[in-house]
Amino acid sequence: MHKAIPAALLLGALILPAAAAGPKHGDKWIIGMSQCNLGEPWRVQMNADIRRAAEAHPGLEVVFKDAQNDTLRQRSQIEEFIDADVDLLVVSPKEAAPLTPPVAAAYRRGIPVIVLDRKVLGDEFTQFIGADNQRIGRAAGEWAVRRLLSLPQVRAGGRARIVELTGLMTSTPGQDRLAGFHAALRGQPVDIIFSADTQWLEPRAREEMESALAVNPRIDLVYAHNDPAAHGAYLAAKAAEREKDIIFVGIDGLPQEGQVYVRQGLLAASFEYPTGGREAVETALRILHGESVPKRVTLNSRFFTMENVGGGGEWLP
Ligand code: FRU
Repeated sequence: MHKAIPAALLLGALILPAAAAGPKHGDKWIIGMSQCNLGEPWRVQMNADIRRAAEAHPGLEVVFKDAQNDTLRQRSQIEEFIDADVDLLVVSPKEAAPLTPPVAAAYRRGIPVIVLDRKVLGDEFTQFIGADNQRIGRAAGEWAVRRLLSLPQVRAGGRARIVELTGLMTSTPGQDRLAGFHAALRGQPVDIIFSADTQWLEPRAREEMESALAVNPRIDLVYAHNDPAAHGAYLAAKAAEREKDIIFVGIDGLPQEGQVYVRQGLLAASFEYPTGGREAVETALRILHGESVPKRVTLNSRFFTMENVGGGGEWLP
């Protein structure tokens, strides 16, 4: 009679072909991580999420590069990773169009590429991971409309007045957060009375909000495409002693940033934008072990308000 083959051996045999290919250099797989900027807490969190997830796997080494919010620098950092022939690339691009060619070049060279959060054009990458920014924008819009319809000036037949502080409009989350929000506003008694591109940056948002306040004696709500911009707008309004008249809504919902602003009552709502860092490492492992992975992974988001933040927020409808 034949002896039963232990399950572990069978499993070993099954993963052997991919594992046998092994890391290209030494005994660890090298993952190059191209981060577009580390100026915002959200991106620091993304890198921390990647680092923490990778630490659980001694066979992985992640090399981080920070493009310091400079598209050309990010292009050349991706090219450096290609020249170093890393085993896999993770890219969180600053802008879609200019970062498409280096991502495609890596992919064509056979380096698997995971694109995180902001998109590139076309489909020359292995997997895109991100939350649905149109859905987040729409949920923020629907939430804003509900709040605005309850204001006395709107109930009395007036129209609500909104300031929109967008993210960098050459990046896809900015475009999608705007589109979703505007879709929710259609047909409602609300007007966007001021709009500016803050490039995702708090100091720019503060400046733009100063201009908005200077020319608009009444502002009912500020919709900012990220929490740093919402906070910058809040600070400008506070300096003008008008923060109590305005509802502030932001996106990101980090525990140490947006959720704190909500608890403190600075923001009325913050919509979560998960970093995808942990998921990127999980996908990387699957790819490195020779598994095929789906082209797109959409992450879920919650939202936080004063009422629900203590209980961990609520999932988007
Ligand atoms: C950080 C950030 C986040 C935002 C994301 C969009 O650079 O602006 O605040 O949610 O990028 O890509």
